Amino acid sequence: MNVAVKSADKPKGEHKTPQVIKKVGVIGAGQMGTGIAHVIALGGYSVALNDLKKEKVDESVHTIERFMRRQAEKGLIAEDEVKPALKRISYAPTFDAFSDCDLVIEAATEDEGIKRKIFTEICPKLKDRALLATNTSSISITRLAATTDRPEHFIGMHFMNPVPLMELVELIRGIATDDDMFAVTRKFVESLNKTVAVSEDFPAFIVNRILLPMINEAVYTLYEGVGTVEAIDKAMRLGAHHPMGPLELADFIGLDTCLSVMQVLYEGLSDSKYRPCPLLVKYVEAGWLGRKTQRGFYDYRGDKPIPTR
Ligand SMILES: NC(=O)c1ccc[n+]([C@@H]2O[C@H](COP(=O)([O-])OP(=O)(O)OC[C@H]3O[C@@H](n4cnc5c(N)ncnc54)[C@H](O)[C@@H]3O)[C@@H](O)[C@H]2O)c1
Repeated sequence: MNVAVKSADKPKGEHKTPQVIKKVGVIGAGQMGTGIAHVIALGGYSVALNDLKKEKVDESVHTIERFMRRQAEKGLIAEDEVKPALKRISYAPTFDAFSDCDLVIEAATEDEGIKRKIFTEICPKLKDRALLATNTSSISITRLAATTDRPEHFIGMHFMNPVPLMELVELIRGIATDDDMFAVTRKFVESLNKTVAVSEDFPAFIVNRILLPMINEAVYTLYEGVGTVEAIDKAMRLGAHHPMGPLELADFIGLDTCLSVMQVLYEGLSDSKYRPCPLLVKYVEAGWLGRKTQRGFYDYRGDKPIPTR
């Protein structure tokens, strides 16, 4: 699948927006990078996937294969789409493998220092016209763009978890993001059968600005002894018709990511209402990060999840 967009007449510049996206680089093969590589490969694009260790990428490709086969069994995709899609995913051992990418999406750990280092290192490896996107849940797009050599070709492309199932992608322009770039990325996202919501570049954008304070409040509700883990989740599932309780959802997102988003909201908006709950901090300090480490507000090591408090 190629995305072509008519360009406005612009002066020729070093970083003129590419007309066609064919190959996409993805940095970080965690839960989000895995989902992003999955939908992009199914969309017909080539994907180069990078992480700190090859095992992480191998694990990610296995997850993609399992999930695609399940989608085919359910008739959500055609059986004969699976093999070609998997073939389109390659391992990128270093950023050199991104030199022929038209777009690179960063989906590494939610830590500004890590992301800044990635962008500083990757820019010299990219072709001049390559576009850069970040899947950050909360960090300023303008600030991240400023660490690159192409802020006009930098955008926030915020996929939701789990990526193959969730319809929405938030697009967030930095102060310098140009209109062509925005149009190309919007077309690209829509070609993946996702719907775009446009957010201004303020801490945590739209979805997480609303969702994470609710999760943080659920952790306070637990911390202050108002309810147990089970009672809080049951109350919100049955009383507010949420498909998942807030603590279950926190485990699903990753408690480190939840804490990081709350810190960005707290510092970015200088408002005490976003103060991360000390109990959330304690879980993260313990390394109990939710499903990805098998323990969070629930323990997932047995047959069924058991509350840890
Ligand atoms: N978890 C969610 O629900 C969710 C939803 C939307 C967006 N996000 C955002 O997506 C990003 C990734 O989150 P996740 O949930 O996939 O986290 P994760 O912990 O599952 O995965 C992060 C991956 O990044 C890798 N990584 C760390 N430093 C790296 C580097 N220098 N180079 C290459 N890889 C590196 C880690 O090894 C890990 O595999 C974060 O910015 C997060 O805020 C998360």
